Amino acid sequence: MMNKKKFSFAFAALVVSLAAAGYVFAQAGAAQRKDDASGGQKSQCVECHRGLNPRLSTPVTDWESSVHAKGGRDCTTCHGGNASINDAKRSKGKENNFRGKPDKKEIAQFCGRDECHATAVGQFKRSPHFDTVKRTGEPACTSCHGKHNIQRSSINIIHESFCTNCHKAEYSRELVSSIKSTQKDIEYIESTIDFLEKRKADTRGIGDSLARIKHLFQQMVHVFSAEEIRFTRKIVETQTKTLIDDVELKTGVIRRLDYIYLFTVVFCFITTLAIAAYTLIMIRRRRRKLREE
Ligand code: HEC
Ligand code: HEC
Ligand code: HEC
Ligand code: HEC
Repeated sequence: MMNKKKFSFAFAALVVSLAAAGYVFAQAGAAQRKDDASGGQKSQCVECHRGLNPRLSTPVTDWESSVHAKGGRDCTTCHGGNASINDAKRSKGKENNFRGKPDKKEIAQFCGRDECHATAVGQFKRSPHFDTVKRTGEPACTSCHGKHNIQRSSINIIHESFCTNCHKAEYSRELVSSIKSTQKDIEYIESTIDFLEKRKADTRGIGDSLARIKHLFQQMVHVFSAEEIRFTRKIVETQTKTLIDDVELKTGVIRRLDYIYLFTVVFCFITTLAIAAYTLIMIRRRRRKLREE
């Protein structure tokens, strides 16, 4: 009894210490990643701005949870300047290439600089919205993606209410719901590919088509002309139909195999049961016969 208790205590202690070690390890990893984002040392931009008024400090808290922070891009990647100088003026000197806060009308160029988002910006330049941006600063990259808290994007960042600032309500609703239904088609294909991959089916061809469709979709979201939307929608619709047929064929085969497997298992089980019952009955009969003799 005593030994058993001791053993459980030792086991619990082992589990607790393993968990603690895991936690420390994970924290160390997180700290390491944070350091990497600021080039191995504390960023003075972050340190100083954190303590300033909301206009100057929300960029820090917003940026911290963004894809840019996670991907090791910091304040200087976008704004320039020298992050190791703890002085508002000197860190932002001309010699440190400080670019400051971009004018709203210039945000596309700001994001497309140094090959960062050249593709998206190239697409956006073909948009009828690009002219509006040049005149009014809206709708800029930041209108849809946000400023510092930029996340992996999906169509959910586009809200109809944003379009109705400039377009008729019905026109906006129609466009946005058309784009959203394209997105739904794409999501359906993604989830079935997941299913197929889990079942080890060959998804290479489907994956390639999906990548092509996704590229077209992203292009449409940035080019955003009525013609581009119609064109993309048509291609995505036909491709989606072919893909859905293909995917359903494959899932159909897998489901059929599942049924055959299930049937076989049930059949074997029942057969075994029947044989067992039969044997039992035969044994009893023989015993009875022996007793009667
Ligand atoms: C010692 C404190 C301090 C440091 C270090 C610092 N800043 Fe600032 N920053 C400020 C203050 C104060 C302002 C507001 C006054 C001003 O515009 O100069 C400001 C303003 C800004 C603005 C807005 C400019 C505008 O036009 O409104 C940007 C962008 C900015 N900082 C980015 C950075 C970047 C990037 C770094 C690092 C290279 C950095 N800051 C380092 C204190 C600092
Ligand atoms: C992905 C690029 C990017 C990164 C990274 C980034 N910024 Fe910005 N920042 C911008 C853009 C674009 C604007 C202009 C937004 C606007 O005017 O709509 C801006 C504006 C600002 C402003 C002016 C805010 C205002 O309302 O006037 C400050 C201050 C600022 N950034 C500080 C920082 C600091 C500090 C960091 C690092 C923690 C940082 N930014 C990281 C792109 C970036
Ligand atoms: C009308 C709203 C809108 C505007 C304006 C816009 N985008 Fe986008 N962007 C989107 C949407 C929606 C997606 C996601 C598309 C998808 O699901 O593939 C996206 C995707 C992206 C991606 C891919 C990011 C990822 O998660 O993989 C990048 C990069 C990007 N946009 C950059 C830009 C830049 C740079 C600008 C300005 C020139 C811009 N966008 C303007 C809506 C917009
Ligand atoms: C700041 C104002 C503004 C906002 C916000 C805005 N647009 Fe536009 N949009 C314009 C202007 C201006 C044009 C060019 C003139 C035109 O064709 O009506 C335009 C053109 C378009 C076109 C091209 C029409 C064509 O004939 O090719 C489409 C499509 C469009 N917008 C959809 C949208 C959608 C969807 C949204 C919301 C995500 C949106 N817009 C948000 C101002 C805006």
